[in-house]
Amino acid sequence: MEVIFLGPPGSGKGTQAQKLHEEEGIPQISTGDMLRRAVRMGTPLGREAGGYMERGALVPDGVMVKLIRERIGEPDCAGGFILDGFPRNRAQAEALEEVLGEGERDSLLALHLEVPREEILRRLAGRLTCQVCGAVYPPRDPAICEVCGGPLYQREDDRRETLERRLEVYQKNTAPLIEYYRKRGRLVSVPAVGTPEEVHRRVREALGAVKAR
Ligand code: AP5
Repeated sequence: MEVIFLGPPGSGKGTQAQKLHEEEGIPQISTGDMLRRAVRMGTPLGREAGGYMERGALVPDGVMVKLIRERIGEPDCAGGFILDGFPRNRAQAEALEEVLGEGERDSLLALHLEVPREEILRRLAGRLTCQVCGAVYPPRDPAICEVCGGPLYQREDDRRETLERRLEVYQKNTAPLIEYYRKRGRLVSVPAVGTPEEVHRRVREALGAVKAR
């Protein structure tokens, strides 16, 4: 199983990728989480990526492709993986195909999470993230992380101005990938409103339908 979650900021890519990872036992590869961790730790990758992320811009393709190439090459990805946040433009999508090679490229599936803009703004206005382990909570949730007890914070890039920029970047760079994967017969669209569990059921149904083809 090689799955890509595709969708705008706040569409629930991370939430759904995590659920699928827990069920299937295959790795969830979240480029956003990897980059935030690198920024927190002050690594060379974090120092390079931080400025782009603060502005809501994409980190350069060369950096991202190298990161993904290395991660997908690790032994735990041999049985498949779930990508959350990559690819984000055509160059990244083409690089991914090259990394995968012919056989695996044909089993790649892009799950497009469809969420109206108002719902995205509502979700991200109050999203809280754990500073230590990266767990994500809706606004109503606690002051400390239920997973590791770490402090929760609001992501800088969820502030309204940066969020607007991220939505623009998504429309311009990432949304064209919907057509890209549709043309290759690798796209399934999933309505992503309702509870996370309801969306997960739809994701499972979509995967089941594709397997049965
Ligand atoms: P990244 O972290 O990937 O941000 P994003 O794509 O904007 O996605 P989000 O994490 O904001 O949202 P999500 O869709 O995962 O939703 P979530 O599940 O959290 O990237 C951040 C930055 O890193 C980028 O701007 C860029 O600079 C850089 N970057 C990353 N990858 C890159 C790449 N490949 N190339 C270049 N640069 C890259 O859910 C959102 C909220 O809604 C949560 O509070 C959640 O609890 C809640 N929620 C989820 N599902 C539901 C539901 N069904 N109902 C109600 N609430 C829900």
